Amino acid sequence: MDSNGFIEKEADYFNTYPVYYMNYIERSDYELVNVREIDDEHKKIVEQINELYGYVGSSKKETIKFLFKQLLGTINCHFMTEEKFMTENNFLQYYTHKMEHSSYFRKLKNFNDDLCDEKIKLNMVLMKSLKSWFINHLKYNDLKLGKYLNSVNIH
Ligand SMILES: [Fe+2]
Ligand SMILES: [Fe+2]
Repeated sequence: MDSNGFIEKEADYFNTYPVYYMNYIERSDYELVNVREIDDEHKKIVEQINELYGYVGSSKKETIKFLFKQLLGTINCHFMTEEKFMTENNFLQYYTHKMEHSSYFRKLKNFNDDLCDEKIKLNMVLMKSLKSWFINHLKYNDLKLGKYLNSVNIH
């Protein structure tokens, strides 16, 4: 990423020169939940989705597989972090929030398997689904968790 927040797309087809894109998910697209560990992990997820976005249309299959698997691991760790906060602090909506995590993780795992088997390609449908899930889940679930944790003095 350069100093203006643009990411460089590798010039592996059509272009002799690198093409610059805006970040796919911008900081202004989502809110902070005000719990440092959760916000740091959300930032990491966003960075990895943005990096993956740089490879839409690319023929670098192995890099795409590596980045998607890396994202899957980051999201798995992040779900465990949030679930630990929920159980340790008796968060009442634990089960519904955890169910959302589990169903999304299954979906991501299927995407990962299909990418590995080369049944699907990294395309904008896949990117849009990553982006909208991240933003909506944060808005309707993680922010509630953040407010609750803040109310019991966790920041
Ligand atoms: Fe969550
Ligand atoms: Fe989250």
